[in-house]
Amino acid sequence: MMEADVLLGLQWGDEGKGKAVDVLAPSYHWIARFQGGPNAGHTLWMDGQKIVLHTIPSGIFREDCMNLIGNGVVIHPPSLLQEIKALRQHGLHLEGKLMISAKTHLILPGHRLLDQAFESAKGDHKIGSTLRGIGPAYTDKYARHGLRYCDLAGPQGNALLETAHEEHLRQLKALDFELPKDLPEQVQAWMDAVYELLRDFAPADGSWLLNQALDQGQRVLAEGAQGSLLDVEFGAYPFVTSSHTTSASACTGLGIAPNRLGTVYGLFKAYCTRVGSGPFPTELHDQTGEALRRAGHEFGATTGRPRRCGWLDLPALAYAIRLSGVSQLIITKADVLSGFEEIKIATHYQGLDNHQSPYPNDSIECIPEYKTFQGWNLEASQSYGSRQQLPTQLQTYLSYLEDQLNLPIRWISLGPERNQILECK
Ligand code: GDP
Ligand code: IMO
Ligand code: MG
Repeated sequence: MMEADVLLGLQWGDEGKGKAVDVLAPSYHWIARFQGGPNAGHTLWMDGQKIVLHTIPSGIFREDCMNLIGNGVVIHPPSLLQEIKALRQHGLHLEGKLMISAKTHLILPGHRLLDQAFESAKGDHKIGSTLRGIGPAYTDKYARHGLRYCDLAGPQGNALLETAHEEHLRQLKALDFELPKDLPEQVQAWMDAVYELLRDFAPADGSWLLNQALDQGQRVLAEGAQGSLLDVEFGAYPFVTSSHTTSASACTGLGIAPNRLGTVYGLFKAYCTRVGSGPFPTELHDQTGEALRRAGHEFGATTGRPRRCGWLDLPALAYAIRLSGVSQLIITKADVLSGFEEIKIATHYQGLDNHQSPYPNDSIECIPEYKTFQGWNLEASQSYGSRQQLPTQLQTYLSYLEDQLNLPIRWISLGPERNQILECK
C-alpha cells in the first residue's frame, strides 16, 4: 500500500521547509499543505531569484507535481490570489495543478482585525503573532461558525459573509478597536478575490484526491508549516500558533488515515531561531547571537522581523521527534556556522529529566548545559559531492547528532539554492 510521507519543522518554524520540499518534490506526484495559513513564509530560490510562498505548497515549481491546499489550512483569499498572480508572472499555469480543498476555512477581513485587537489587548504579554488572522479564523472554525471555501460557492455565500462580518464588527466594537476607514473596500476586495479564486479553482475533495492517488500508487508528500515547538497542544502555550503542527495533523488536515503515513522527515537548522515571544532556552543575547542572525539572514520571510537566534537544543529536538514519530532527519544551514570558532549544542537542562517535555509550563525554567564543538570552514565556491568530503569537524557534529537522536540524517542543506544540498545514501 502506498503511504503519504510528511515533512515538518522540528523547531519554531523557518527551518527551510520550502527549500527541502522543492528539492524532494520531483519524486512525488502530490505536495499538500495540511495546516496553518499565510502566517507561513516558505522561501525558494530559483536561479538567484527569491520566491516566498505563504499558502501555496512548495511543489508548485515542479512540472509534474500536483499541489493541494488541504482542508486543515486557513486561506486569506486576497493574499492567495496575489500569490497566484505572482506565480503566473513567473510563467506558471496553475489551473489543474493547484487544488483547493472545499473544506478549507477562510480568513475574513474581521479575523485580521481581531488578531490585532487581541494582540494589543495583551500588552507586554503579546504572542508576537504574524497578525494574519490565523488565531481568530481557527477560533471561528472550532466554534462552528467559520466559513469554508465551498460555502462561498453556494447561493448563500454573500449572506453568510455578511452575518460573519457583522459578528466580527460586534466583537471589535466590544474591544474598542478603531476600524480602518477603508474597511468596506477591504470587504469588497475580499469578495472579489474569493469569486475570482472560485472561478479558476473549483472546491476540491482533497481527501478523496489524495487517497485515490495513493491507491493508484502515486506518492504524496505532506508539507508542514510553522514548527513542532509552535504546536497549539505541545508548544509553550500560549506562545504558539493556533494549529497542530505535528505529523498527526497531516491526517486530520488532509483526510488521510494514520495507517497511510510513511516516512516522517524532521527538518532542523544547525542552530535555533524563533520569531515572536515565548521561551527560548538557548537564545543568545550577545555578539554570537547577532553574528548568527547576520550570517543566516535571520529575518522573517512573512513579516521581516529579526529572528531571535541561539544554539541547537537537543532536548527540544528529541521532544519534537517523539511527538511526530520522525524517521529521517534533514539538517539545514550548516553553512551558516562556517567560520565560527566554537559551536555549541545544548545537551540537557539543569536538574531536568530529558525524557520529560522540555516546556511543560512556564513555571519551570530550562537552563541548558552545553557541549562545545570545534567550528568548521566551508569553501563557499566548493561543491561537496558527498558527506565524506565535508570538513571533519562538521562530520563529527553530524555524527554526534545522529548518535544522540538515534536517527539518520538523510539530507544536509548547505545553502539556499536547490543544488546546495547533499543526500546521504
Ligand atoms: P521555512 O518557513 O521553513 O520554509 O523557512 P524560511 O523560508 O522562512 O526560512 C529559511 C531561510 O533560509 C530562507 O531564506 C531560505 O532561503 C534559507 N535556507 C534554506 N536552507 C538553507 C541552507 O541550507 N543554508 C542557507 N544559508 N540558507 C538556507
Ligand atoms: P513557517 O511555516 C516562524 C509564530 C509567530 C508567533 C506565533 C503565533 O514559515 O515556518 P500566528 O501568526 O500563528 O498567530 O503567530 O507563531 N509563527 C511562525 N514563526 N515561522 C512560521 O511559519 C510561523 N508561523 C507563525 O511569529 O510567534
Ligand atoms: Mg518561514
